[in-house]
Amino acid sequence: MARGKKLYEGKAKVLYEGPEPGTLVQYFKDDATAFNAQKVDVIDGKGVLNNRLSEYFMVGLGQIGVPTHFLKRLNMREQLVRSCEIIPLEVIVRNYAAGSMAKRLGIEEGKQLPRPIVEYSLKNDELGDPLVTEEYIAAFGWASPQDMDDILSIALRVNDFLSGVLYGVGIKLVDFKIEVGRVYEGDFQRLVVADEISPDSCRLWDIETGRKLDKDVFRHDLGSLTEAYAEIANRLGVLPKNATPMQKPTLIN
Ligand code: TMP
Repeated sequence: MARGKKLYEGKAKVLYEGPEPGTLVQYFKDDATAFNAQKVDVIDGKGVLNNRLSEYFMVGLGQIGVPTHFLKRLNMREQLVRSCEIIPLEVIVRNYAAGSMAKRLGIEEGKQLPRPIVEYSLKNDELGDPLVTEEYIAAFGWASPQDMDDILSIALRVNDFLSGVLYGVGIKLVDFKIEVGRVYEGDFQRLVVADEISPDSCRLWDIETGRKLDKDVFRHDLGSLTEAYAEIANRLGVLPKNATPMQKPTLIN
């Protein structure tokens, strides 16, 4: 499918104009960045895996009634999505202490939290995506109180869905980040899960061994990132049988 002109290039994806108004083509790159792009590399096959995994999670969410921007996968690296206005927040849900929360509060990594905790960061790379409160969000008008109610409920539904699906294949969902967009339908707006849901934006640990299967493998040089992502894809049955990401580009139709 012919894509239109490039609209935006981020660290891991590129957005192009889609074939119809209100659509975009989202292209998954192999580029990996961490620590606000202080660490950068190209990881062969990462984009192909994230395209498939994000499709898998977004389609599943749609089936349980959580609206997403996903329309269809176009090829190995591209998917067609609805164009939406991204709310400038990173919505993070945590089930176990890890990463910045473990550090900030001095909690041992891996400790189960008393309940899922939802937090918000302002999407601003220059500032390093600072944590913000709902007071800030309301005062600066980044999202309305109604939006925030909807975002909280979407975030918790996504958490329950992802936790359950991953638990079923022996993986613990430690935490994850989503982005939420506004779609306008006439005078109405509704919120949809946008961007991507992939091991780039989650922490995923093998339940039996504790092995990390997410971008922390890249952040902390723990081994092969594509092997980790392929392990998740294989357990979820997302990759065709006998395919490994190393056989690119014939492995996935
Ligand atoms: P953190 O512990 O570094 O705050 O990250 C929490 C979760 O959010 C973790 O699953 C990784 C994800 N995340 C992103 O997807 N993008 C980001 O820019 C950051 C900082 C975190």
